[in-house]
Amino acid sequence: MLKILTVVGARPQFVKAAAVSRALAVHNARGGRPISEEIVHTGQHYDQGMSQVFFDEMEIPEPVVNLEIGGGTHGAATGAMLAGVEREILTRRPDRVLVYGDTNSTLAGALAAAKLRVPVAHVEAGLRSFNRQMPEEINRIVADHVSDLFFCPSEVSKIQLAREGITHGVHVVGDVMVDAVLHYRRKAVPPVAKDPFILATLHRAENTDDTGRLEAILRALGEAPLQVILPLHPRTREAMQRAGITVGGALRIIEPLTYFAMLGHLEACRFVITDSGGLQKEAYVLGKRCITLRDETEWTELVEIQANRLVGADPVKIRAAFDWADQSLPERELIYGDGRAGERIVELLT
Ligand code: UD1
Repeated sequence: MLKILTVVGARPQFVKAAAVSRALAVHNARGGRPISEEIVHTGQHYDQGMSQVFFDEMEIPEPVVNLEIGGGTHGAATGAMLAGVEREILTRRPDRVLVYGDTNSTLAGALAAAKLRVPVAHVEAGLRSFNRQMPEEINRIVADHVSDLFFCPSEVSKIQLAREGITHGVHVVGDVMVDAVLHYRRKAVPPVAKDPFILATLHRAENTDDTGRLEAILRALGEAPLQVILPLHPRTREAMQRAGITVGGALRIIEPLTYFAMLGHLEACRFVITDSGGLQKEAYVLGKRCITLRDETEWTELVEIQANRLVGADPVKIRAAFDWADQSLPERELIYGDGRAGERIVELLT
């Protein structure tokens, strides 16, 4: 029996882990070399609507432990996660530790395992924004440089790892988020409102922690030609309250969506405006253009094929992109895989 310990903590990781857990279950049912998985939840995201609903909807195996480390400074939170994950590795003795993406939970999981010399497998390896102001960029770089197995979503990330001297254990498997979209889209829950709308999300530190940027973005969204539905991340809600920002015009703020509701909104919307990494790809897979509220992206392929446009927090650029975005995407290639990344990961783990 091969023992895997999976470390997750933030919302996008639940979606990614769901795809791999499902592939693991299929592998075991087919009689492959048995693999057991224990999930450690760091507690980084703790609101019911940011965490538990994802486990329930996607039937992700319940975590064996929740370390309940939500909030705090980056150093304090990551340090507490490091100690917590280390404890779990020492008691559970896994053969491999599996981490996803670029959050503080990814960094803590990868570092704890590497220090105990347990092989680390990083899903979404090799992504770079080349902006070290982003906490996620630091997390990705460090996680990659202490990992042993690298699951890349596309060739670009494999090439990037090679540039940094990482050439062993690197596999282009496709993107597990694409697996999730293709598998769960039949369960998409459509929005109640029938009017045409733009789907927006906003939570990156670079946008929420800078009041000027936050205000500029929200004002531009309020001036959109169609209703803008913004399921609001708690971080952004806090930032708006702190800065006393109120919104109006086309902008309609709602509670965070479940994954199935998010898929329904993606299917129904005209286009997407976001600073999320995952949503940029999900929009593409579901045939929607995406305006990205950042100055750079890790998902550069989407910008190259003009499915995605970077506008930063510039109201002029945001407004200018509305017409561009409200057009259908040309015939699409499967840039990030065929929806079978999870299967490949499981085979490579054994
Ligand atoms: C984190 C990730 C980011 C990812 C995002 C997805 C890092 C550095 N960032 O950002 O890469 O795209 O998750 O959502 O790991 N909060 C709540 N309830 C929650 C979760 C958070 O109220 O369930 C509040 C807390 O006050 C917390 C703040 O939001 O301090 C920020 O949360 P944090 O986990 O630090 O970062 P995110 O902005 O969610």
